[in-house]
Amino acid sequence: MKVFVTGGTGAIGGHAVPALVAAGHEVTALARTSEKAGVLRERGAKPVTVSLFDRDALAEVFAGHDAVVNLASSLPSMSRFLSTKAWEAAERVRTEGSAAVADAALEAGVTRMIQESVCMIYPDRGGEWIREDVPVERYPAALGNLAAEASTNRFTEAGGTGVVLRFGWFYGPGAAHSEQLLGQARLGIGAALGRLDGYVSSIHMTDAASAVVSALKAPAGVYNVVDDEPLTKRDYTAALAAAAGRRQWTRGPGRAALLLGDRLTSLTRSIRVSNAAYREATGWSPRYPSAREGWLATAEALG
Ligand SMILES: NC(=O)c1ccc[n+]([C@@H]2O[C@H](COP(=O)([O-])OP(=O)(O)OC[C@H]3O[C@@H](n4cnc5c(N)ncnc54)[C@H](OP(=O)(O)O)[C@@H]3O)[C@@H](O)[C@H]2O)c1
Repeated sequence: MKVFVTGGTGAIGGHAVPALVAAGHEVTALARTSEKAGVLRERGAKPVTVSLFDRDALAEVFAGHDAVVNLASSLPSMSRFLSTKAWEAAERVRTEGSAAVADAALEAGVTRMIQESVCMIYPDRGGEWIREDVPVERYPAALGNLAAEASTNRFTEAGGTGVVLRFGWFYGPGAAHSEQLLGQARLGIGAALGRLDGYVSSIHMTDAASAVVSALKAPAGVYNVVDDEPLTKRDYTAALAAAAGRRQWTRGPGRAALLLGDRLTSLTRSIRVSNAAYREATGWSPRYPSAREGWLATAEALG
C-alpha cells in the first residue's frame, strides 16, 4: 500500500516507518526540516515538507495514498510535564492537526486513516480489566487525544475507515522518557507513580510499530494496543530494576505524585487494559508479552 505518515521522525515513527517499509509498503512521511528529511530517507521513506495545519497542502500531498497514519504529537518531556504552554502546543497538534489530516484525507480520496491515541484516558478501575467499551474520562490533559479520536470517527462517518490505536505507556529504545527511567534504575532509583498495587498497561515501541502495520487491515474502530500482561506498579518497577541489573533501593515520587493532581493523573491511575479486541480484529500479537521481557530487551539494546 501507499502510506503517508506524520510523526515519522518521532519515537513511535522511528519504529513504525521502518516496520511499514519492511512490510513492503511505500511510505511518504512529513518532514519539518531538511535534517529530518534526511532521517526519513535513512528509514526508507520519501520525505515531504508540508504544514500539519494546512488542509489544502495536505490534501495535495496525500493524493494517491491508500492510508494516512497520524503519529504527530508534541507531548511535553518529563521536565516540562507540568508546563501549561507545553500542553497547549501538544493540544494544537492533536486537535487542529488531526482535524486537518482527516479533512485532507477525505478530500484526497484516501480511504484509511490511522490515529495514535493513548489508554491513559480510561478512568482508574483498580484491578478490573478495561476493554474499549469502558467510557473514557474527559480530564484536561486527555482532551487533545479525545479530539484526535473524534476526527478519526468523523472520517469513518464520512465513508472512510478510521482506526484509533489507544497505546499503553510506551517504552523502548528511542523513547526519551524510557531511556531516562533506565538511567535512573541503573542508579538504583525506582519509578513507580501512584499506588504500588495499581496497574500500568505498557507497550514496547517495537510492538507499537507492528500494531501500526496491522492497522492497515483493521476494521474501522477504536482499539487498545497494549502488551498481554499489565503489571502492578510494584512489579513494573521490579522489572525495570531487574533489567537495569540493580536492586532498587529507593522509589520515587510514588504516592506523593498523587498530590500533583490533574497533569499527572494519566500516570498515577491504575489501568489494567486488555488487548483482546485488537488481537481478534487483526491477528496482531506483541513480541514482548509484558514489561518484564520488554525491559530486558530494552536494556540490552541500549547497552
Ligand atoms: N504514551 C506514553 O507512554 C508516553 C508518556 C510520556 C512521555 N511519552 C513521550 O512521548 C513520546 C511518544 O512518542 P511520539 O512518537 O508520540 O512523540 P515524539 O517522539 O515527541 O514525536 C512526535 C512526532 O510528531 C511530530 N510533530 C510534533 N509537532 C508537530 C507539528 N507541529 N507538525 C508536524 N509534526 C509534528 C514530530 O516531528 P519533529 O521530529 O519534527 O519534531 C515527531 O515526528 C516518547 O518520546 C515518550 O518519551 C510517552
